[in-house]
Amino acid sequence: MNIKLLISLFSFVLTCDCYKILIVFTTPMKSHNILGEAAAELLLNAGHEVTYVTPFPKESVPDKMRQVDVTYIGKIGLFDLKGYLKNDTVKPMSLRKISYFMHDVNVKAIQNENLQQLLNDPSQRFDAVIVDWLFSEIFVGLASLYDCPLIWMSTMDPHWQILRLVDEMPNPVFLGRCFLDRIVPFRFWERTQELLYQISSLFFKDIEFFSEEDAAFKRLLGPVFARKKKPLPSFNAVRYNASLVLSNSHHSIGYPVKLPPNFISIGGFFIDDKKQRLSLDLQTIMDNAKHGVILFSLGSNLKSKDMPEHLVRSLLNVFSELKQIVIWKVEEQIADLPQNVHVLKWLPQQSILAHSNCILFITHGGLLSITEAYHHGVPLIGIPVFADQFKNVNLVSKKGFAKKVDLTYNLPGDLKHAINEILHNKRYLEQAKLWSEIFHHRSVNPRKELVHWVEHVIHTRGATYLRSPALDVPLYQKMYLDLLGLVMLVLMALTFLIKNVIKLFMVRGIVHEKME
Ligand SMILES: *[C@@H]1O[C@H](CO)[C@@H](O)[C@H](O)[C@H]1NC(C)=O
Ligand SMILES: *[C@@H]1O[C@H](CO)[C@@H](O)[C@H](O)[C@H]1NC(C)=O
Repeated sequence: MNIKLLISLFSFVLTCDCYKILIVFTTPMKSHNILGEAAAELLLNAGHEVTYVTPFPKESVPDKMRQVDVTYIGKIGLFDLKGYLKNDTVKPMSLRKISYFMHDVNVKAIQNENLQQLLNDPSQRFDAVIVDWLFSEIFVGLASLYDCPLIWMSTMDPHWQILRLVDEMPNPVFLGRCFLDRIVPFRFWERTQELLYQISSLFFKDIEFFSEEDAAFKRLLGPVFARKKKPLPSFNAVRYNASLVLSNSHHSIGYPVKLPPNFISIGGFFIDDKKQRLSLDLQTIMDNAKHGVILFSLGSNLKSKDMPEHLVRSLLNVFSELKQIVIWKVEEQIADLPQNVHVLKWLPQQSILAHSNCILFITHGGLLSITEAYHHGVPLIGIPVFADQFKNVNLVSKKGFAKKVDLTYNLPGDLKHAINEILHNKRYLEQAKLWSEIFHHRSVNPRKELVHWVEHVIHTRGATYLRSPALDVPLYQKMYLDLLGLVMLVLMALTFLIKNVIKLFMVRGIVHEKME
């Protein structure tokens, strides 16, 4: 074989192995960071270099990783447990509120001097940019800045706002708004409501919120592009130009909606089975739990310590009557605990769920917690509080391995009832195991799939062959309004013609009559 060819082949293998990837996860919520960190780790392990923009920097990181600290300095007013408790029925979060909140987060992140330093460093180049999608979209500009493909990471079940960025709006009959609590099929008024909601949300997104985002895009990224002597592209041109969506979702968990070919479902990629490890204390507690262990955690955003004292006491009363061990995540110590209750500030949730003695998971119903319950086949009680948690919990309840309990002052009584139901009815556990099997039964492991698709997008310079034609067809063409116009024109012309011909004959007839 030709030696030159051999050398070039060899160098191809060498240079192609390592890409530089920028991951931007600005959302100041720990659950988002879990996903960003997992993606970074998978790409690092595959031999790539990762720059990770995060509000939760770690103390030490591997050699090939660089962190850019964008710790959020504003107030996060969304997670007030007491506020949610006061209202008997909690309303799902409003699109306007969360959109403006995330806009503020992203504006502050771009202004952060750590990120400014990175953006204004002329030596930086990247092969791909992965951005966490959460309502505000101004970070799309970075893909153009580095002339590389854009990949969205979607942390929720597929919804219209992300689908329309890479394909088209789904029909609201099958897929309501992102934070809708009810699940399909919809009744007549519900369908009507979803349609009206989608139309009004479109006005909000494309007019009011767009002007806010577009202005910030120009104001914040304009100078960065100018320093690089590059023209700033239009916000809309880059917004609809993503190569791929990596979605932390799976048809077994959410709805089986139709997805474009560049929408890759890798639900559960953040779960690393090799990492599950319990501290010695926890291991002993769990190993010795003859009647099993119940895990109770409201996630990282809601603080159980914000619960009123009397509610905590009545919950402990309920737990003390159980034969099971209860492990509760609370951010502060509680005095006079019943013997079978352990409270921990922080706990290795996945490792506890992975233990065969874990028989029930009481959760707020965040998608990551739900996914972990699927992964380990543990029945659950969902106490949804905001965002997509209502839908998540309703969907698992429908599948028969969960019960929903409302967050109200009646929580202890309702919870007691639900715990008894799940512990005494074997069906819940059977369904949990069945759905876990379905969740795992895939041709490719989602962890491998993430790395594969990121590499594929870079190899193919943006995988533009996957781009949906729907993005380049204007609305009037999609709805055949031009054809409708033409048909109406022809009809009008015909009517005009026929009317006049008839008139002509009638006039002639009258003239003939008169002549006679
Ligand atoms: C509770 O309800 C009141 C009145 O309807 C509302 O102003 C308030 O924002 C609600 N609180 C939460 C946390 O939803
Ligand atoms: C859109 O993406 C492709 C592939 O990454 C890239 O070549 C192109 O320059 C991008 N267009 C804009 C306007 O950013």
